[in-house]
Amino acid sequence: MSKPHTKRGRILQHCLLALGIVGLWKAYNASGPLELSPHANREVQVLADTFDWFKLLPSETLEWVRCYQEPFQCARLEVPLDYAKPRGQKAAVALLKYPSKYPVGHEKWRGPILFNPGGPGVSGVSFVRGLGANMSKIIGDEFDMLGFDPRGIGHTTPQLVVLDTQAEVMTWSLQYPPLINSTVDALAKLHGYWKIMGELADERQAHTAAHMSTAIVARDMLAITKAHGRDKLQYWGFSYGSVLGITYSAMFPDNVGRVIVDGVVDLENYYSGAWDNNLMDADKALAMVLDSCAASSTCPLHEATGKLISKRLDAILARLKTDPIPVRTSGSNYGMVDFSLARTLLFLGLTEPVGTYPLIFAALAEVEKGNGDLLFAVSGVKASSWQCECGGAEELATFPAVTLAAVACSDADVVREDLDQLKQHYANMARLSNFAEYWRIHVYCTGWKVRAVERFNGPFVGNTSFPMLFIGNTADPVTPLWAAKKMSKGFKGAVVLTQNSPGHCSLAATSLCSSKYIRAYFQNGTLPAPGTVCEDEDEIFTPDNVNGVTGERRTKALSAEDRELMDAARDLSSRFEI
Ligand SMILES: *[C@@H]1O[C@H](CO)[C@@H](O)[C@H](O)[C@H]1NC(C)=O
Ligand SMILES: *[C@@H]1O[C@H](CO)[C@@H](O)[C@H](O)[C@H]1NC(C)=O
Ligand SMILES: *[C@@H]1O[C@H](CO)[C@@H](O)[C@H](O)[C@H]1NC(C)=O
Ligand SMILES: *[C@@H]1O[C@H](CO)[C@@H](O)[C@H](O)[C@H]1NC(C)=O
Repeated sequence: MSKPHTKRGRILQHCLLALGIVGLWKAYNASGPLELSPHANREVQVLADTFDWFKLLPSETLEWVRCYQEPFQCARLEVPLDYAKPRGQKAAVALLKYPSKYPVGHEKWRGPILFNPGGPGVSGVSFVRGLGANMSKIIGDEFDMLGFDPRGIGHTTPQLVVLDTQAEVMTWSLQYPPLINSTVDALAKLHGYWKIMGELADERQAHTAAHMSTAIVARDMLAITKAHGRDKLQYWGFSYGSVLGITYSAMFPDNVGRVIVDGVVDLENYYSGAWDNNLMDADKALAMVLDSCAASSTCPLHEATGKLISKRLDAILARLKTDPIPVRTSGSNYGMVDFSLARTLLFLGLTEPVGTYPLIFAALAEVEKGNGDLLFAVSGVKASSWQCECGGAEELATFPAVTLAAVACSDADVVREDLDQLKQHYANMARLSNFAEYWRIHVYCTGWKVRAVERFNGPFVGNTSFPMLFIGNTADPVTPLWAAKKMSKGFKGAVVLTQNSPGHCSLAATSLCSSKYIRAYFQNGTLPAPGTVCEDEDEIFTPDNVNGVTGERRTKALSAEDRELMDAARDLSSRFEI
């Protein structure tokens, strides 16, 4: 059963920016968050907002006011900029909640659940604005759904702004080299640009960047919990949010209430700055897509086997490499459908194959016939969409890759590599995955100079006051299941829930089974039995021969309660963007 193409608008935005092509992305127009790391490449982001956060005075207690539309409430929590200097400068953490049905203090109120949507660099405030209602349906309305912007990010102050104006952001993004293998000098250029960026960040924003580490944000999460009059964190973190959740649990094992880490990163690899084992399952994710296509005559690139489809894809891409297709749309929009654009779509689509691949393959089937219009539309490239509103006070230009680097590279050991070493790095990674050229974060760190004032780099172990729940998909293109298994070993009683689906994080697919375990964990503290595997309800392409019970038939047999949960899960996963 395939979902409707709800992802269309979003994949457009990803790819637009992934390629550094001119475009504007209004973060707060979109329902959801941005990224772990495929989307580190979403170079441009302009924050526009309808709520004036700066009228809200930061305070050490939570002073909630109404914000945006009903029922949201916002607050700014004052915390030390550096926890080692409690009487020194302050930071103010922006908070947004989708409140529980029960007021704070009511006997049925179960406190806040904090979310981190990844990146690093993604706003938790906009995440809960987009998904709070749906999260509440899954988890239960006894809890507040609480989004917070991590240090330097979104509405938390001080804000990281390395490139000062939108014009500088656009200039940077136009010069920015595409995929590592797209030209002979692309890697050298990327290396060079990040040398410059590392220097700019150091000269312009060293003070802010030095206070954005995961360890500091972990302390903020404890401060937020305590400001609610509680001792133990309740948390669900996606992707980079697993780095945050695991770091927190290792730092404060006695303050763990419920912690779910979903789409788990290998923290040793993260804190070393290597970023070289994330793509372990990326090719497997593509293989699952190809198998689904082979099993369905409705797949636009259908062949008898996945191998044959792979061959056909290779031929389409090889042709694009030498013969890009110029496209003009009816308006004044135009551009080029080329190899990098098509490859980028293939990779980004793997983060949520169910919603994206039917469209991507339909577009590639058109490309095969020499028509690039659909692929161009899918990619969302717009030649003429950017207008410089230079000097507009409301809009803050940010460059997500810099925000990501300010967290991930300031967290990491120093990475000093010359071009030859970098080439070796990518040659090694290419043996792990076909998509190595897409994975550029390590390069960012080669030029980064700022180090965080507080860094935590292990050991990642703890006898936590409540067992943690780790979730991994069988074919997650950027956070392999292996890492969830590895990291869970350090934490007493921790369980890994495996979701048998491709895509990044459990919400990349709809799974009633996973939703039930997540709900039971938060509500009752019940963990799945070790080794539990949840199936999802989705098919990427509807199979011709259905053996056994399909998602659709399962749905028909559901109780009213399960059906409601399933609807909420489906809605949540269709809106979830990471
Ligand atoms: C780049 O292309 C070369 C030559 O085709 C290949 O050997 C190498 O593995 C590629 N590197 C990456 C990171 O994909
Ligand atoms: C957890 O508890 C066990 C047994 O009490 C102890 O041996 C171990 O060192 C503890 N681990 C940590 C990280 O505190
Ligand atoms: C929690 O436990 C109660 C009592 O055992 C049970 O009725 C309820 O269904 C459980 N809730 C979830 C979400 O598992
Ligand atoms: C999910 O959230 C949206 C927007 O907040 C809402 O319109 C929709 O009804 C929610 N879906 C479910 C199943 O609650």
